[in-house]
Amino acid sequence: MSRIREVLQTKRILTPGARRRAGEYQPVPLGLLDGGAELPFSVYVKVRPRGYPQPLFLLCCAAGQVFPRRWQVQMQELRILQVFIRREERQQAFPYLLERFKAGLTEKTRGNREKARWGYEIALLWLRHLFTLDRERLSEQMEIGFNLIEYLFEIIMEEKDPGGLALDLWRQEGLSAHGLHSCLLGLGFARYLGWKEKDAKALGFTALVHDVGMTEVPRNILEKTNPLTAAEKGVIKNHPQAGFTILWNSPFCRWQSLLTVLQHHENCDGSGYPEKLRLRQIHPWARVLRILDSFEAMVSARRWRAARAPKEALWSMRRDWEKHRLYDANYLSLFIKFLAGR
Ligand SMILES: [Fe+2]
Ligand SMILES: [Fe+2]
Repeated sequence: MSRIREVLQTKRILTPGARRRAGEYQPVPLGLLDGGAELPFSVYVKVRPRGYPQPLFLLCCAAGQVFPRRWQVQMQELRILQVFIRREERQQAFPYLLERFKAGLTEKTRGNREKARWGYEIALLWLRHLFTLDRERLSEQMEIGFNLIEYLFEIIMEEKDPGGLALDLWRQEGLSAHGLHSCLLGLGFARYLGWKEKDAKALGFTALVHDVGMTEVPRNILEKTNPLTAAEKGVIKNHPQAGFTILWNSPFCRWQSLLTVLQHHENCDGSGYPEKLRLRQIHPWARVLRILDSFEAMVSARRWRAARAPKEALWSMRRDWEKHRLYDANYLSLFIKFLAGR
């Protein structure tokens, strides 16, 4: 038995006889739970018993039961910063988590970095949920995304070094994390550029969901480790149009966002897709997103290569610009200055 499990059982934080349940679990910041009140979803604690190859998720508080404040404090003393919820309960958890997050933002005793970490976890939870839905259900979810942007924007505005904050939060990999990292960078960069609040938030939202069209790409193509065939590449290259169609049905999306999603793989030299547009034909937000997207992809690890250091990624983008003029030179030099903290 692991020490944590032993301590949790001694303190009666774990349900007696708690066992592993099947399913997929996702982290939620412990500090966001309202200790002393009823929870609308069950929470689990992750433990790693000796001799087990996989972690176990043990029931700590069932849905509809009061989560004692005392437990929350004791768990924090044990340096447990996250609890877990089951994938099936994500949908019912969002209203509660957003409400708690909103309330937490006004707490003066909490630092901006802690609030940013909460925002990161909730946004990631939402994006992971979003990427499992079918086309009809996707557009209904966008209101949650807009609420998240409101709160993330507040955090970015409070931060002295928003580029540094985005890079510090960068822990996860995959398509959902890619959207979230691009969004955090986008909010910070829009602030650096002095954009109006409304436009900065819309760019942040667009960056958050820009690859939503990838939900239409079959899993076997997304997870393929061998080189893709021309037909499979074609399916992936359809994701900007698929994303445009999905977001078209959302009443929250501005036309600039739709256009940006459609054009986020266009290169300024005309070598991109789907329309092979050139610099002046590409919407400025899409030119910005092209930079955010490339930078995020380079700084994150992929199955086939390691992550690059931010400085190295910026140099590589600059070299690409010199050779091929892929990016908007003006935005690229401002982005480099933004990340350099100038
Ligand atoms: Fe994309
Ligand atoms: Fe992307």
